[in-house]
Amino acid sequence: MEKKAVVIAGAGSTHTPGIIQSLLQKKQELPLRKLALYDIDEQRMNLVYDIMRQFIEQEAPDLDVVVTTDPETAFTDVDFVFAQIRQGGLAMRSSDEKIPLKYGCVGQETCGAGGSISYGIRSIPGVFGIVEAAKKYSPNCWILNYSNPAAVVAEATRREFGNERILNICDMPTAILLSYSKMLNLPSWRDLDPCYFGLNHFGWFTEVYDKQGVDRLPELREMILNQGMAVSDRHHKDPDWMHTWAQYVEIVKDYPEYLPNSYLQYYLYSQDMAAGMDPEHTRADSVINGREKEMFAEHQAYLADPANYKSPIQSFTVFGDFIVDAAASIAYNKAERYLVIVENNGAIPNLPDDAMVEVPAYVRSWGPEPVRRAPISTFYKGLIEEQLASEKLAVDAYFEHSYQKALEAIAVNKTIPSTTVARKILDDLIAANGDYWPELH
Ligand code: NAD
Ligand code: G6P
Ligand code: MN
Repeated sequence: MEKKAVVIAGAGSTHTPGIIQSLLQKKQELPLRKLALYDIDEQRMNLVYDIMRQFIEQEAPDLDVVVTTDPETAFTDVDFVFAQIRQGGLAMRSSDEKIPLKYGCVGQETCGAGGSISYGIRSIPGVFGIVEAAKKYSPNCWILNYSNPAAVVAEATRREFGNERILNICDMPTAILLSYSKMLNLPSWRDLDPCYFGLNHFGWFTEVYDKQGVDRLPELREMILNQGMAVSDRHHKDPDWMHTWAQYVEIVKDYPEYLPNSYLQYYLYSQDMAAGMDPEHTRADSVINGREKEMFAEHQAYLADPANYKSPIQSFTVFGDFIVDAAASIAYNKAERYLVIVENNGAIPNLPDDAMVEVPAYVRSWGPEPVRRAPISTFYKGLIEEQLASEKLAVDAYFEHSYQKALEAIAVNKTIPSTTVARKILDDLIAANGDYWPELH
């Protein structure tokens, strides 16, 4: 197998150790010749590299490792870009979450006014910068993007680059499949073939087939209703996530036809969710005091004794596993079936062709081949069209520098009760985002 070169953009991410771990644990499936780490924050990136260097040297002593803040050095001669940047860092995530909550609306990383609109408009130019550098220095590379909010980013990259050699992905449906596989006593999430439709963080499993072709969804629904949802990987076992898995059962009780993506909780119960959130302490604070702090503590352990330091090899997360598998499927034309974000073009026949939807696709060297399904029924179509309008309007607001479109993006969102509230939130978001947003008029 021809060896590949990967650059991780946003290498200072708290998720980078997990990606490096997956890359090297899967070195038979995606053999590497070069691993580049790229970030705008040199100190944070070096910290991650310090933590992972011992593991890299142990697993891949001949690997060409490049650690750089220079785009040309990072993006030259690579086959894959794994992008996972967070424009404005966790501090801006905190502001995204707290501003809507001030007005009694859901404050969430990727959902609602703080997610699709605030983080969306902020993320677009950051991701464009990565894509432009990648295309400039390695015109044939594939860009696998995790950077959120993936739905809005995918719509923006569709308009700007036609999503040529860009695949936007999310680990949530796969993390849910991991839970299902555990509940069914199957060794891996790959033992299930899902049928699924929707937008990113806004979709439903309609069938969940095992390798014998039996739809296990009815059995899973009964297990979820009777015993609750099994938690999935290390990341989604965090105490904050337990509320999500409890709420998951409520969604299934109220809407038993299909099995939901857990993010639907923020839309289907938006008032209850907002009421249960603390405007002074949101998920961003927990990540800063948890996952990020642990990463910094790990670095202190490294600094205390670099010569004897051992990289922390942790339990599995879907995040690393999935992106490496998707890259290998492209690299070696394996045509594996994954849930990915693609331009609709009839995959969901009664949604617009130019919607970026999350559906199963066979991932090949020339890109994802989405699986077409039957038209969806009124409830799902109505919900999706409203959310799609919000996401498209957020991207319009970015490209047109339009205050009006940003207002409409917020007002049409299911997490927002009225235009009066939408306007107040928008004005606060404009102030908070400063130069991260284009000036809106
Ligand atoms: P983090 O803040 O720990 O790390 C992000 C890194 O990106 C930082 O090191 C930062 O310096 C860097 N960065 C910011 N802007 C950059 C730019 N313009 N160019 C290069 N580097 C830049 O964040 P995290 O919690 O590890 O998450 C990283 C990203 O991955 C976020 O966008 C998050 O939402 C996303 N994510 C997506 C999924 C998914 O399902 N799609 C799952 C998990 C995380
Ligand atoms: C899931 C989602 C991601 C999201 C992450 C947030 O993995 O698929 O899109 O970024 O959760 O997790 P956190 O622990 O940072 O709140
Ligand atoms: Mn996601």
